[in-house]
Amino acid sequence: MNKTAAAIHALEAHRKEIERTTIADLFAEDAKRFDDFHVETGGLLFDFSKHRVSRRTLSLLLDLARASKLEERRDALFSGAIVNPTEGRPALHMALRNLGPRPFLAQGKDVMPEVNAERQKMLRFAEAVRSGAIKSANAKPFTDIVNIGIGGSDLGPAMAAKALAPFVAPHLNLHFVANVDGADLGDLLPKLPLTTTLFIVCSKTFTTLETLTNARAARRALVEALGEATVAAQFCAVSTALDEVAQFGIASDCIFGFWDWVGGRYSLWSSIGLSLAIGIGADQFEQFLAGGEEIDTHFTAAPLEKNISVLMALLGVWYRNFWAYAAHAVIPYDQRLARFPAYLQQLEMESNGKSVTLDGAPVECATGAVLFGEPGTNGQHAFFQLLHQGTEIVPIDFLVAAEPCAADARQHALLLANCLAQSEALMRGRSLSEVEKQLRAKGMREDAIARLAPHKVFAGNRPSSTLLYKQLTPRVLGQLIALYEHKVFVQSVIWNIDPFDQWGVELGKELALRLAPIVGDDKAPLDGLDASTAGLIARIRTFRKG
Ligand code: F6P
Repeated sequence: MNKTAAAIHALEAHRKEIERTTIADLFAEDAKRFDDFHVETGGLLFDFSKHRVSRRTLSLLLDLARASKLEERRDALFSGAIVNPTEGRPALHMALRNLGPRPFLAQGKDVMPEVNAERQKMLRFAEAVRSGAIKSANAKPFTDIVNIGIGGSDLGPAMAAKALAPFVAPHLNLHFVANVDGADLGDLLPKLPLTTTLFIVCSKTFTTLETLTNARAARRALVEALGEATVAAQFCAVSTALDEVAQFGIASDCIFGFWDWVGGRYSLWSSIGLSLAIGIGADQFEQFLAGGEEIDTHFTAAPLEKNISVLMALLGVWYRNFWAYAAHAVIPYDQRLARFPAYLQQLEMESNGKSVTLDGAPVECATGAVLFGEPGTNGQHAFFQLLHQGTEIVPIDFLVAAEPCAADARQHALLLANCLAQSEALMRGRSLSEVEKQLRAKGMREDAIARLAPHKVFAGNRPSSTLLYKQLTPRVLGQLIALYEHKVFVQSVIWNIDPFDQWGVELGKELALRLAPIVGDDKAPLDGLDASTAGLIARIRTFRKG
């Protein structure tokens, strides 16, 4: 048996041993449990004490990480090795937040001079737009910035713009358009002051149907309202495909580049963050990068047992592979992180939603969990019922700030209390005898108690982590994102999959291109389509006629 198989075998045996031990038992046995089951770095506290893990569990999970050669694979990632073999690329998004003097090599070449130059160009432009030094075609300062992109070219900037709203200049409105559904741009356009609107077209490849369709529609609207000459002053672009952007008619000093070794879902650190940088300014954008860089240092330097991304990843592996829990929830008790779960959905599910190993063989274990989430307390009044009493166990990450950032402090105490109460309730539960006692104390009759009590029982023993930070600042946001990025990487190492490709999105794109002319032309033949698709298109046609 090789080392990985032995580590898996030991964990399977251990799971049987620990099956009857509850999280509450683990706390009862160990008065110091919180002390030993939390890690702090750079002002962030990661509490992982409310999990079904003992010291032995952790040590066995760490054995699995070492047997999977995590440290070697981490070094390979940071040294610019080809960690994305199906696309033949390194994954060097860490270079984008490398503010210090350290070089980053891609195929032997230090990328830092190019990275620094492009960042400076982007931040100079951002500052000039923000200050009004760069003006619209009508020589007015910009008031509205529209980011047109999808996936990694949208979710990052959109999530961060909301997260950092108190840092966004009050004279600027940031908007995000992603969907090929014409309603997305269509609902926004009438509200925009076109004379003072800057459009930023973001697309790594500059071939993405949704983005190019929306960009062309926005261009048409601008030209119709203000004339062709406005395009040069009011359109800019961020892409790795500079020739394609030039063909679109965007002036070269308004084009910002990045590199193929930055995956779309890792690109917020690059010029894809332009809309955010305009909003929060260069200094705060650099604070955001510094937060990410701080976590890179933590990830590469902290021992595995005190390494937050490693611990987050191993807990995920424990539940996914040894308890068969299929889902994972991220619940920010932080309204401004409302889009963070959606951002993480792309990061985690596009990265680790894979069924073959790096060599193309079928995986032998379950990979990425289904991630979902909504801000607390809203989620409490929606899907928390299932989290507390459903048959599916869903491990949760709670995220919460000790202090509000530009919000009411009295309300913040209520928010904090709710966050802490949820993780406590999930862990402790409420037994049948406790419920009966409570109902008796209210004077309920015994037959009524017998009927109602089972419905009020909480099994408890439901795991959660809490990430606590002082305030949601640009630096903290950078830390949080980088923590999850490395968590995803660690899990990919354990599962031996490529976390940096995304072939699974291609088939749908191809079929949509094939179907678009058939759906667009009511006379196009439906031959060769499956019966369901043909039936639906036929009905669409009769709806249209009706
Ligand atoms: O369809 C998936 C995807 O390729 C994502 O990985 C990417 O973030 C998104 O599309 C947008 O791609 P682009 O930035 O090239 O327009």
